[in-house]
Amino acid sequence: MGKLKTLGVILSVALAVLAYCLYTPMPPEAEEPFQQMKFLAKFKSIMGFVSLLDMVGLDGMDTFRKLRSTKPVVDPSDTVTSVDETFDGVDVRVYRPKDQGKDEILPALVFFHGGGWVFGSRDSHDPLMRRFVRKKRMVVVSVEYRLAPEFRFPVPAEDCITATRYFLRHSKKYQVDPKRIGVMGDSAGGNLAAAVSQALTGPDFTDLPKLKVQVLIYPALQAFQFRSPAYVKYAGSSVPGLLNAERMSEFWLRYAYGHDYLKVNHLDLLAGKHLTEEWLNSKEASYVDVKHLPQKLREGYATSANSVPNVTLSTFVKPVFLNPLFSPLLADDEKIRGSPSTYMLTAEFDPLRDDGFYMTKRLREMNVAVEHRHFTGMDHGYLSVFSYQNSVKAVTEICNYLDKSL
Ligand SMILES: *[C@@H]1O[C@H](CO)[C@@H](O)[C@H](O)[C@H]1NC(C)=O
Repeated sequence: MGKLKTLGVILSVALAVLAYCLYTPMPPEAEEPFQQMKFLAKFKSIMGFVSLLDMVGLDGMDTFRKLRSTKPVVDPSDTVTSVDETFDGVDVRVYRPKDQGKDEILPALVFFHGGGWVFGSRDSHDPLMRRFVRKKRMVVVSVEYRLAPEFRFPVPAEDCITATRYFLRHSKKYQVDPKRIGVMGDSAGGNLAAAVSQALTGPDFTDLPKLKVQVLIYPALQAFQFRSPAYVKYAGSSVPGLLNAERMSEFWLRYAYGHDYLKVNHLDLLAGKHLTEEWLNSKEASYVDVKHLPQKLREGYATSANSVPNVTLSTFVKPVFLNPLFSPLLADDEKIRGSPSTYMLTAEFDPLRDDGFYMTKRLREMNVAVEHRHFTGMDHGYLSVFSYQNSVKAVTEICNYLDKSL
């Protein structure tokens, strides 16, 4: 009896510890606190599993990536059909409505998935793409760009440019109107979408039809200021979402330097140690100025660098971090002005929240039409969590925008 009791106590304690580890306190602003907490508990248990794999000597992240890349199960009665192809060497999946007529020409989006340039695939975002095509009669090309750390910057961005250029050139073959093609991406994919839009304004691409829209869903747009109010606020372990400042800065470094990502300590970036006088007085600094944010989002702002700047660090990161293909927010006026009409979606519980506000400001200053939709109380990545009502709502709103603008 005594043994059973001891076992009972041990089990209860273990359960309590587990519950504590999986629990995320939700702030009162949370839109769907119960669903959000449930999703985060699931996410945290996966991250726990990844750490366990690390502990037994396997590469947890790598194993997790393989698990995530399993083929999606498609309902045979789905009204959306897809085919896998290769555009100039880049793998893509092309979606369209099953009942598209033989002579029916549709608008199209080229989509770049999120996952910190490290995770994700056309498979991981397959259910989301099908949702979009069910709601909006269009063709979607989901691009399987190569991932970091194996393929560092600029490979992922160049893959996206290659696939988009191919599609713009061959749209007729896909029963798509070349004048009605846009780009879309979530998170790291939003970074790639903005980078592609800007790149295609360049002199090498004058023969191509112009992109009609860009849809940027909680995009990562700049690796300049890691002390923006959102980065400061959404750091550490109590973030009511799956992305915190630490993880985001690690993603940026894997994208920039591939397997050499440890050459820079991500905490140095979060502390603003790369922000020398030269950086702080640059024109790029004015693009990430906190004064562009609504007053109530400025709370938690700690002025720029609070430590002695490290010139070695700043010199090392400069060529990549200030490259607009890497940080599209930092592009020159001409590139910003050449951007297509934009739908900008931001989420509140997200270190990338401010990037979207800063970009909206720059685009509007350059007379680019922007529809900015800020979802309060929602977390980064929520569009892919179908148990959230706001996920359905956001997909509907984006499709309404596409009805008007694409
Ligand atoms: C400055 O940054 C470089 C590159 O990240 C690093 O190797 C060095 O240790 C840093 N120096 C100080 C004093 O933090």
